[in-house]
Amino acid sequence: SELERGGFPHYMLKEIYEQPQTLKNCMSGRVNVEGTNITLSGIIDYKDKFINARRIIIIACGTSWHAGLIGEYLFEEFCRIPVEVEYASEFRYRNPVIYEDDVVIAISQSGETADSLAAIELARKAGAFVYGVCNVIGSSIPRNTDSGSYTHCGHEIGVASTKAFTAQVTVLTMMALAIAKEKNTIEESRYLDLIKELQNIPAKIEKILEHDDKIKQLSKIFTYAQNFIYLGRGYSYPIALEGALKLKEISYIHAEGYPAAEMKHGPIALIDNEMPIVAIGTNNNIYDKVVSNIQEIKARKGRVIAIINEGDEDIKKMADHYIEIPATEECLDPLLSCIPLQLLAYHIAVNKNRDVDMPRNLAKSVTVE
Ligand code: G6P
Repeated sequence: SELERGGFPHYMLKEIYEQPQTLKNCMSGRVNVEGTNITLSGIIDYKDKFINARRIIIIACGTSWHAGLIGEYLFEEFCRIPVEVEYASEFRYRNPVIYEDDVVIAISQSGETADSLAAIELARKAGAFVYGVCNVIGSSIPRNTDSGSYTHCGHEIGVASTKAFTAQVTVLTMMALAIAKEKNTIEESRYLDLIKELQNIPAKIEKILEHDDKIKQLSKIFTYAQNFIYLGRGYSYPIALEGALKLKEISYIHAEGYPAAEMKHGPIALIDNEMPIVAIGTNNNIYDKVVSNIQEIKARKGRVIAIINEGDEDIKKMADHYIEIPATEECLDPLLSCIPLQLLAYHIAVNKNRDVDMPRNLAKSVTVE
């Protein structure tokens, strides 16, 4: 009912707007009050498992798999542990190599996804240590893993995952920083800076939500587009995939996410004056490369919607449309850049009169194969 949705027309929109609070809840009791340390209770007794891990294997499906890709970047950058990110359904059926000193992290909002559960069982039989990152308390995955951390974002009702995704990425960020600290693979000052900036994320999301009206106006231009391409590099690449998935799930518009540099190996052939391209061009160490990707698109008349940092005049000049978001640390940027993409998908789906909270053919949790 309207009341349960807190005055929002859809649960999805309510859940998008909850994110500043859900991320605070996710960090609460984990980032200390002084903002100088991160403690995850699930890790405390298993520090050695993480410190001595030969490898981390992340297992998930759907949106949770996209969070896993960001986890790969985080654990490799800060902990210097090699990471593989696997679709649970592929992993379980291909007789994978699993070592006893592998750490397997299973990410799942529902904690009930059948393929993820089966993959966990396989990993445990092989003797690996299995850690769950789940939202639903007491669900099957937390009950069948050695340890874990809950995402604590509350009940997610919209089938298209939003607040669970940002909470998963937040947990993975806290894990990577806490383990890097234990492993001594991060400098103290960097550790402190990142914890400080992590705590600024909820307020920065609030700022992005203030642009909702602009995004709604922008959505009207693209309601009848047949296709979309989403591009990002580095930490933004998984967000390109997630942005495309959100649009597909609820608007039924065909969308592809691509790492921007791979465009020249295929997708560039699709670009003409009818192709909208959402380019994540926030400022990071490959900013210049993204700028040249946007130039290549404009040379082929593609219509660019750029996600940029506040005050970026360069991309503003090149792009047809832009959405500004606050700057942050590169590794935390996914928590911000995903927000306008959630809103864009939401508004386009509403324009098309779609059943946003319960899109056709999809289920909130897939408990069968
Ligand atoms: C379904 C849902 C997705 C979700 C995926 C994985 O496909 O519609 O939103 O990302 O399952 O679910 P899980 O509960 O394991 O995160």
